[in-house]
Amino acid sequence: MRALLCKELGPPENLVIEEVTDPVPGRGEVVIDVRAAGFNFPDLLIIQGKYQFTPPLPFSPGGEVAGRIASLGEGVKGLRPGDRVTATTIFGGFAEKLKVSAAQITPLPESISYEVGAGFTVAYGTSYHALKQRAGLKEGESLLVLGAAGGVGLAAVEIGRAMGAKVIAAASSDEKLETACQHGAEAGINYSEEDLKARAKALGGGGVDVVYDPVGGEYSEAALRALNPGGRHLVIGFATGEIPRIRLNLTLLKECQIVGVFWGAWALRNPKDQARNMAELTALYDSGLIQPLISESYALEDYLAAFESLAGRRAQGKLVLRLGPQD
Ligand SMILES: NC(=O)c1ccc[n+]([C@@H]2O[C@H](COP(=O)([O-])OP(=O)(O)OC[C@H]3O[C@@H](n4cnc5c(N)ncnc54)[C@H](OP(=O)(O)O)[C@@H]3O)[C@@H](O)[C@H]2O)c1
Repeated sequence: MRALLCKELGPPENLVIEEVTDPVPGRGEVVIDVRAAGFNFPDLLIIQGKYQFTPPLPFSPGGEVAGRIASLGEGVKGLRPGDRVTATTIFGGFAEKLKVSAAQITPLPESISYEVGAGFTVAYGTSYHALKQRAGLKEGESLLVLGAAGGVGLAAVEIGRAMGAKVIAAASSDEKLETACQHGAEAGINYSEEDLKARAKALGGGGVDVVYDPVGGEYSEAALRALNPGGRHLVIGFATGEIPRIRLNLTLLKECQIVGVFWGAWALRNPKDQARNMAELTALYDSGLIQPLISESYALEDYLAAFESLAGRRAQGKLVLRLGPQD
């Protein structure tokens, strides 16, 4: 099979496509014929050795895939070769075949294409867990989403709207804000040009109830300062590369909460809740209340363009690699 390989840590230009041996499933494992694989910001970090975990070299990046089951190891029940599935993994997804534990598999309904399936689990799984389990977002509350046209950001916009919140999008360009508004935001703040705290307070009618923050840097404190009393600031990630230091007196003054979110670890600890979340997300998709944006789709050999789009802050919604027939 062909695989995109990281043989030395560094920029995406160091990656190579090579022919490697097909994986064979062991007990309790499944091999997937990958049809599409989704890009996530951590893919950019893991190849540079900047992620929480660095796999032994060589490895393929790629944390989520959709495809069909190719073969099953001993003891796997309830799955058959040919089944349409998705799987999340930390690395290994940018290859024509991927071996995972059967526990990492989620069925992919016929209603969802491979490309959408490959870009769905991480972004929507993270944002739904954050807004439902961590923020307890309620109908009628206001939700400020930073990086609102990015992968997890756009998912938070759609899910927030579907949960009945008033969604305010914040992003670095008018073009990105237009995308966020097409996906359910009621108003936008261009934080390259406007004062984030002042505009969020004005648009929220005095303040906002929940902040969804995958961006970090200088934007975090400005957004936290726009919270209403009792508000929740969801810490999702630091795409700016800067982890902000927030003075705790801000939480005292507002009686607000800074809430950490680590979806991958939570999903492993709580497989039943994760399965329920994914079933609820699939129902939202089937009813048209969420419509994931796959803005860029590439053949395997064009992987560099996708990495450049993510690193250059140009990506909107989800980017995917196509690795086989889309049947
Ligand atoms: N906590 C969790 O469980 C969890 C799960 C998944 C992802 N994450 C994290 O969430 C963050 C976003 O991931 P993603 O896959 O959605 O990425 P993405 O699609 O690239 O979106 C990131 C957004 O951050 C903003 N940004 C600000 N400075 C940037 C920079 N220097 N380079 C790139 N983007 C920049 C961009 O929006 P503007 O241009 O509008 O500012 C961009 O749209 C990452 O830090 C990731 O590790 C966390």
